[in-house]
Amino acid sequence: MNATIQGALKLGVNIDHVATLRQARYPNLLDDHNCEPDILQAAIACQKGGADSITIHLRSDRRHIQDADVYRLKEHIHLPLNFEMGNTPEILAIALSLMPREACLVPESRREITTEGGLDVAGQSTELHDTVAALRGAGIRVSMFIEPEIKQIEASARLGAEMIELHTGAFANAVGAKQMMELERLATAARAADAAGLQVNAGHGINYSNIALIRDVRPMSDFNIGHSIISRALFIGLEPAVSEMFALMNSAQPPHL
Ligand code: PXP
Repeated sequence: MNATIQGALKLGVNIDHVATLRQARYPNLLDDHNCEPDILQAAIACQKGGADSITIHLRSDRRHIQDADVYRLKEHIHLPLNFEMGNTPEILAIALSLMPREACLVPESRREITTEGGLDVAGQSTELHDTVAALRGAGIRVSMFIEPEIKQIEASARLGAEMIELHTGAFANAVGAKQMMELERLATAARAADAAGLQVNAGHGINYSNIALIRDVRPMSDFNIGHSIISRALFIGLEPAVSEMFALMNSAQPPHL
């Protein structure tokens, strides 16, 4: 079905960590735009660096991104927003009022440091059904953040999601032969998702080294990358950190797969 038309790989920059840094100093901050680092300035730097979209995760515990951030970003940046969200009525209501271009449904638990595994779409189809329908009905493109497993891909397609985001954490944490095995698993999943009519995105743990491997997975549309870009930005600035990653994603290089 070729849902993912292969052109240049797109880069979505996850700027949650910018808000994490701000909240470390201003833990009770809800909507003061004058506190550093400024999330809007960060998004503008990503835009200038060549990002194709901005990803934010409004968590139920509001540990980093705040409600005011999402509306301010929507109002002031030109790039499309990819809104990561847990499946709760509160966050769904915000998504429907925010109207991002995309919503990516992710699992969420209060104890995790970051999103730790893929969403069990196959096991939670009943709970997810109305949420996907509401988002799609409002014209928001829906993605499912899943492990590279056929049953999760099939469940995502059945629910009417337009996209999946393959969880690349196992690949990012593996080394040597195990990492190549994880890469193959991602490639197999990407092909299956494409055949099922889904756009294929990927994210989690992608960095300036492992991008050399993961960029060869086809078909692939968007990489959503946060931690490594924000970390590199400490040393070279956010705009160059984004352009460097974009260049690594799209420069000519012999394929590994
Ligand atoms: N995609 C999703 C769905 C995520 O939850 C995260 C982590 O917030 C990312 C991508 C980015 O992961 P990382 O910060 O490891 O690049």
